[in-house]
Amino acid sequence: MKFALSLLVICAFQHTSLAAPSALTKRLENGLGRTPALGYNNWNNGGCTHATAESALNVANLLISLGLKDAGYTYVNTDDCWSSNSRNSTGHLVPDPTKWPQGIKPVADEIHSMGLKFGLYGDAGIMTCAGYPGSQGHEVQDALTLAEWDVDYWKHDACYLPCGDSGDVPQGCYDPNSSTKPYYGIMRDALAEAGRPIFFSICNWGRDSVWTWGKDYGNSWRMSNDIANNWGSVASIAARAAGIAEYAGPGGFNDLDMLQVGNGGLNENEERAHVGLWAIAKSPLLIGTDLSKLQNSTLNILKNKALIAINQDTLGKAATYFQPAGASAPVDGSLYPYWAGPLSDGVVVGIVASEGAANLSVSFADVPGLGSGSWEWSEAFTGATGEGTGVSADLPAHDMRVYKVSKGTLMYSVR
Ligand code: GAL
Repeated sequence: MKFALSLLVICAFQHTSLAAPSALTKRLENGLGRTPALGYNNWNNGGCTHATAESALNVANLLISLGLKDAGYTYVNTDDCWSSNSRNSTGHLVPDPTKWPQGIKPVADEIHSMGLKFGLYGDAGIMTCAGYPGSQGHEVQDALTLAEWDVDYWKHDACYLPCGDSGDVPQGCYDPNSSTKPYYGIMRDALAEAGRPIFFSICNWGRDSVWTWGKDYGNSWRMSNDIANNWGSVASIAARAAGIAEYAGPGGFNDLDMLQVGNGGLNENEERAHVGLWAIAKSPLLIGTDLSKLQNSTLNILKNKALIAINQDTLGKAATYFQPAGASAPVDGSLYPYWAGPLSDGVVVGIVASEGAANLSVSFADVPGLGSGSWEWSEAFTGATGEGTGVSADLPAHDMRVYKVSKGTLMYSVR
């Protein structure tokens, strides 16, 4: 019986994992991103609208006054549309003077003086996705500029790169033979030489199986197209992340994209599952909503200490699907209810009512890293604690529970 269960568990992992990577331990060693980045990015809150100094400083103040900084959210990142339409006569990037009247550095300085970090956005191609100057051919110069401005985090997008043999440089390229990888290598090396540690956030929307090489190139890598403000998008990105969990580790993480909580497209249950799934998949958690209008329910989810501790666990291993005895197997592309992954001091078990209201239960005997016997657990969203051979929850549609099961506290064993 035990053998049969183990076999099922192994099968579940085989179902969801991709081909064995060659050098999982090799990572970009710039000392950054040992745990997933926590912070803010303005893009999901109105696209280009808030790529301004005023907005970045407002965000910094609100991260502090709402207790989000104390909860761990430190990056204040500005996305596309912060720069002028063209470079200056010496080829340097120039912040839009109406959006950044003092320039970038004084804003970065002020954000640093508040105990926070400052991030900016650029592109590996000739233009950003919104049509501002890209870094192609200017990588060294741009990296030095970022270091001069004391920027801490650089998101490198993939618009307007050469595509195929035709010489076309479209906004988005879908030619499988056109690799984005070399462009990220050039920027990685430029940043490494720039004289300041800068978190390198790869944003190529999961092209070129970026998870297989992202760890040698960046501190995180987007593994999907842009998240949309609805449950279907959240569920499909999470389902994809389950299959590439093994590539996450200290220094380099799968980036499931910026959070949509607070933007009105998800109900409270779905917001819990969104942050819960991103947290256990070890994604960066970058808030993307108007912080001045945050509901308490959303704020409480974002500030959930137990959940953030799981996301920031030093082991840095991402949770993935496991198949309980008697449950049907995961289906490619669909969100599966049962998740688990190792922590430095235990195991995280996630259950999500992916298809609709459900009574979900997990026997610890079925969970990789646990086994038969009685274990102590605590649940992140309800604060419930207990001990026993498993857990169960009656969940409304799309809600989630995240259990930390403590390895050191096996109460008795039936081996
Ligand atoms: C997309 C990217 C988004 C956002 C946007 C800005 O390519 O995936 O996260 O940065 O560009 O134009």
